[in-house]
Amino acid sequence: MRLRRRVSPDPTLTLPIETPRLLLRDFVSRDLEAVHAYSSTPQATQYLIWGPNTLLQSKQTIRAFLDDQKERPRVNFDLAIIRKGTARRGDGPRLIGGVGLKLADWDNRTADIGYVLHPDYWGQGYALEAAQGLAHAGFRELGLQRIVATCDQRNKASARVMEKLGMRREGVFRQSKYIHGGWRDEFLYAILAEEFYG
Ligand SMILES: CC(C)(COP(=O)(O)OP(=O)(O)OC[C@H]1O[C@@H](n2cnc3c(N)ncnc32)[C@H](O)[C@@H]1OP(=O)(O)O)[C@@H](O)C(=O)NCCC(=O)NCCS
Repeated sequence: MRLRRRVSPDPTLTLPIETPRLLLRDFVSRDLEAVHAYSSTPQATQYLIWGPNTLLQSKQTIRAFLDDQKERPRVNFDLAIIRKGTARRGDGPRLIGGVGLKLADWDNRTADIGYVLHPDYWGQGYALEAAQGLAHAGFRELGLQRIVATCDQRNKASARVMEKLGMRREGVFRQSKYIHGGWRDEFLYAILAEEFYG
């Protein structure tokens, strides 16, 4: 049977994406300090293939985000996670992390989701809320069919966020990532549009 290829329009998201407590917006160069605050933390990067970042690496990360924003068609939607209404009250920085959607296989309307938060903000449901907001935009605005995510098998918090998002574990990639000195197994999770809204 012949596979019908869909014509791919330029994928765009309407930003910022708003959730009850958060705004998800494109990174800007003045986000460097806040991005470096979490990217330089060993706790936040222990299960990631990158980090902890030097200041130069954080600068390069921001530059890559800005380049990605200009790419057409855009493939990477890395967004800053901003806590609403915390700018003038002195109760912590507004930018607390990042959440991203990578259109890994646009022909098949499949994207990869990922997230990282400053440890000061863990355990308050922010990652789930950000991932839900971005997944909703991905399904509704980009017409995605499937969103996938992978995590180091040891990364219980990340796997839990995926499960709370309604993702199903579809498999294990054995020794698929070299993370901080060792080959790690990864879980693959995925959710379909019909399941997200089911
Ligand atoms: C993964 C991460 C984004 C989760 O952020 P968060 O805002 O704390 O997530 P949430 O509060 O939405 O949910 C976390 C869930 O994991 C659970 N959890 C946290 N640590 C856990 C652990 N060690 N074992 C089991 N469950 C754990 C929490 O109890 C919570 O589940 P619950 O609501 O059922 O109690 C955050 O830990 C992080 O930034 N980690 C570093 C970066 C990273 O690993 N990103 C993922 C890459 S794949």
